[in-house]
Amino acid sequence: MINAGGLVLKRWEPAWAAALVEVVRASLPELNRFMPWAHQGYGVEDADAFLTTSASDWERGTAFNYAVFTAIGELVGAASLMTRMGPGVLEIGYWIHSAHTGQGYATAAARTLASLARSLPGVDRVALRHDAANAGSAAVAGKAGFVEVDRFARSVEAPGESGVAVLREWR
Ligand SMILES: CC(C)(COP(=O)(O)OP(=O)(O)OC[C@H]1O[C@@H](n2cnc3c(N)ncnc32)[C@H](O)[C@@H]1OP(=O)(O)O)[C@@H](O)C(=O)NCCC(=O)NCCS
Repeated sequence: MINAGGLVLKRWEPAWAAALVEVVRASLPELNRFMPWAHQGYGVEDADAFLTTSASDWERGTAFNYAVFTAIGELVGAASLMTRMGPGVLEIGYWIHSAHTGQGYATAAARTLASLARSLPGVDRVALRHDAANAGSAAVAGKAGFVEVDRFARSVEAPGESGVAVLREWR
């Protein structure tokens, strides 16, 4: 469990599948643009699969997915630390329930996870990737202290993507 200002980040638990479905479905118009997994029919099977994978990723040490709660226990999104960029790098990801955006939640989660990740032994860089068309994620990343270090072409996987990825590092 991680305290992030007014938020609490907790390792996902299987019992939260129904709550996850509710939050994802309420946020589909925004999530769907940039998150390939957020399809129109998102349901409990998808949530169960995510939670099962999250548990095994955690055991293997490949990704650390957290549910994001307010201080009064509302589920307002998700944030993660991932090792997929290779040794010495932790990559951050996040999304926020559309009814709770604009309150600094993504920024607080990203900044807190970045600071924590950088303090871990063996972690040289904390990185974040977003599509160049994702103005919201770009604003969050900049505000949380991530600076752009590269841009590169990648395949378009979600309807809002431009095919240009922005790579940022936390400074
Ligand atoms: C993008 C997203 C994470 C923003 O979450 P949030 O909790 O509202 O972000 P914050 O409140 O911390 O906002 C930080 C800054 O970003 C700005 N911002 C947020 N969304 C924005 C948008 N869509 N367009 C432009 N600026 C945006 C805010 O105005 C704020 O700046 P300000 O304080 O100067 O006003 C959220 O809308 C989301 O989950 N989007 C869909 C999923 C996604 O794209 N995830 C990232 C994938 S890389």
